[in-house]
Amino acid sequence: MSYFSYKNNILYCEKVKISDIADKYGTPAYIYSKKTLSENFDAYANAFDKKSGLICFSVKSLSNLSILKFLSEKGSGFDIVSGGELERTLLAGADPKKIIFTGIAKTDEEILFGIEKNILSFNIESKSEMMRIEKIARDKKKLVDVAIRFNPEIDAGGHEYIKTGRKKDKFGILVSETLKLAKYISNSEHLNLIGLSCHIGSQIFELDDFKAAANFTKKLAEEVNKMNIELKFLDVGGGLGISYTDSNFPSPKDLLKIIENELQDRDEKIILEPGRSISGNAGIMISKIEYIKENYLIIDAGMNDLIRPALYNAKHSVINTTKGAGNNGSWTIVGPICESSDVLAKDYEMEAAEGDIIAVETAGAYGHVMSSNYNSRRKPPEILVSNDKYELIRKRETYEDLLKNEVDLSG
Ligand SMILES: Cc1ncc(COP(=O)(O)O)c(C=O)c1O
Repeated sequence: MSYFSYKNNILYCEKVKISDIADKYGTPAYIYSKKTLSENFDAYANAFDKKSGLICFSVKSLSNLSILKFLSEKGSGFDIVSGGELERTLLAGADPKKIIFTGIAKTDEEILFGIEKNILSFNIESKSEMMRIEKIARDKKKLVDVAIRFNPEIDAGGHEYIKTGRKKDKFGILVSETLKLAKYISNSEHLNLIGLSCHIGSQIFELDDFKAAANFTKKLAEEVNKMNIELKFLDVGGGLGISYTDSNFPSPKDLLKIIENELQDRDEKIILEPGRSISGNAGIMISKIEYIKENYLIIDAGMNDLIRPALYNAKHSVINTTKGAGNNGSWTIVGPICESSDVLAKDYEMEAAEGDIIAVETAGAYGHVMSSNYNSRRKPPEILVSNDKYELIRKRETYEDLLKNEVDLSG
């Protein structure tokens, strides 16, 4: 359930008029509903039925500090992929023992940072990474908890660019290698194997794909046990699909039912790494229609603000924040960026007039986090709504912000 809805033809987030936020903070801007985030998280946390589990929210989908703080207070753990994400989650008050560090290119600096902060686990993605973590752990005289992220060779995910579990994908360790690495770790004085992990992709609607991943995990865990290694967790990743244009998609409860069933004979804790299915429908991006030219709606948000349509040909529903105000038409909605791929939607039926504020729905995940300064545009602000209140949780960048890291060689 998402708390963006019309009352008397005016779009609200919870009990706040979107137009009030636009008047105060301008456009483009990202607006999040706390209640939606909260319910989405609870849908996962309450879905564990038979087994204990940990939800590690995937920080890459939405990483604003205030959002992470809110989720951390609700008991969330975090799936991170960089030193920057580690810094954020710690600043947000996360329990380090609920942080798992995934990612195929962890640097020395990042590994050291994670070791010093005593995180729950590094999800190792290659033999070289394993050796490197071991070396750093040895230098620091530490025993470091790790999991192996294996590649289950499952073809799942909504777009070529978000499939991660096929043999040819760059993620994870091939099954043929996994047991060799497990053996190595079991003999290491500085590495402690506590889990197995996989993540097969994103925007997945087929629950059978998760079933296959859980089944694979179970079988590998059995093999690992045969080496006298006891594991603490089995991590089946994130990736549950959400709907961008209608409302039919599997729930966390549906997902957990299948995973718990598949892993019912196992004693380990189940970890999930959902991102989009917690943050996606909790956010919208608003934008003003600057100009109408022929059938083009030219808006003040570009692909630098929301790149998903240009990057993945992703479809978002776009609505006018005031119904009954403009002319109905079939529009191509474009932004200000000097690229022909800066198209939010094509042949899109909606009512529109110059000056109207439109809302791009389901923009909470992979929205602001992927924004950039291309064309020297300032990244948009983020606003968090809670009931009848709203707070700025990230300011719009200024022109000074754009230039502050550049070095003026003229002295
Ligand atoms: C390792 C890992 N875990 C979790 C996620 C979150 O996926 P989603 O936002 O689809 O739930 C991703 C996304 O790419 C990922 O790469």
